[in-house]
Amino acid sequence: MDWSTGWGAALALMVVAGLAAPAAAQDIDAGKRLYKRADCATCHGWAGDGGEGRTNQNPKIPSIRASKMDQLQLFDTIRCSKPFGEMPFYERLSYTDERCYGFRAVDVPGVVPPLSNNWMTRVEINQLVGYLQTKMIGRGAPTIEECE
Ligand code: HEC
Repeated sequence: MDWSTGWGAALALMVVAGLAAPAAAQDIDAGKRLYKRADCATCHGWAGDGGEGRTNQNPKIPSIRASKMDQLQLFDTIRCSKPFGEMPFYERLSYTDERCYGFRAVDVPGVVPPLSNNWMTRVEINQLVGYLQTKMIGRGAPTIEECE
């Protein structure tokens, strides 16, 4: 195997692992639709700031806009949520095998949060991450234009 096929294989692996290249414009649009469809706004607010527009007033809900997470951390948070987390997880097969933190739900009763009814594929989760990184994270307070 020469270096170019090696690189191709590495790229294919990255895609399988869900680590896609920076998001393209059509993916960001798809991500925006997913943010609505997956009901993220019920907890985090339409602008991801956890403020106005949020119907769930749980004080543990963080602002996505103020998040310091990188692409992979965002991807894993949406895919797996976290043990004892209050956010549902969005990859349908998480915790059926060891893909999230190395454990399965059946081995640790009561630890794993629920699967969202609005679960997504890895491709969709990546589109959503692209949207969060481009349109929410690090953008400060939401503006009127964003609302419209
Ligand atoms: C039921 C309420 C709820 C829903 C629905 C929800 N979240 Fe969360 N989210 C939380 C809570 C609570 C946390 C804090 C961690 C925890 O307790 O699990 C969190 C944490 C996060 C974080 C980590 C932020 C940081 O920097 O710590 C991100 C990113 C995030 N959510 C994005 C999303 C996205 C995207 C969706 C929709 C696909 C979503 N959330 C749906 C409640 C929710």
